[in-house]
Amino acid sequence: MPSPYRVAVIVGSLRKGSFTRRTAKALIGLAPASLDCHFVEIGDLPLYDEDLEAGGAPAAWVRFRDEVGAAQAVLFATPEYNRSVPGALKNAIDVGSRPYGHSVWKGKPAAVVSTSPGALGGFGANHHLRQSLVFLDMPVMQQPEAYLGQVAHMVAEDFTIPDEKTRGFLTGLMQAFADWIALTLAKPA
Ligand code: FNR
Repeated sequence: MPSPYRVAVIVGSLRKGSFTRRTAKALIGLAPASLDCHFVEIGDLPLYDEDLEAGGAPAAWVRFRDEVGAAQAVLFATPEYNRSVPGALKNAIDVGSRPYGHSVWKGKPAAVVSTSPGALGGFGANHHLRQSLVFLDMPVMQQPEAYLGQVAHMVAEDFTIPDEKTRGFLTGLMQAFADWIALTLAKPA
């Protein structure tokens, strides 16, 4: 079997009890063997300020850029803040996009999963994030879309997914992402 694709998993919530991180852990557990998933943390990244690039970027930026750079694909799991992405996630996207011409995002296949304890499943965040990913030239999986509402009930504390239909959907999502990565990266540059 060829070696698995290395996938950076980026979570848009910083809080310890995050439902989104719980969801991301569940998704990693459902991933096929062709995916090797690793969390890349964003909570320690100083706010993007171009002045900080001069004379050596902050260590946390360097660490983040290296970790995303080493990945072949990116899975974003995010909650919705005020119908958009949390500032911490937008900051991470900005940090990874610079210095100009050295973006770590370019060409990496991506998938977006949004969550909410409410009914709408973070639709606004999901699509605002997709807008940035278009500009960053990331081929984002179009289908299946994943807006995970009622997340507190959908993903248990032990990272299992009690509802069979939801579990089947998320298993299919991870297989579709693996297929999307293989298809995208197989194309000659
Ligand atoms: C929220 N929340 C929220 N939920 C939602 O469905 N749409 C929204 O626009 C917002 N806006 C929002 C703004 C801010 C500043 C906070 C702190 C929260 C509620 C949010 O979905 C809830 O707190 C989740 O639990 C956050 O995700 P994690 O941390 O559990 O992953």
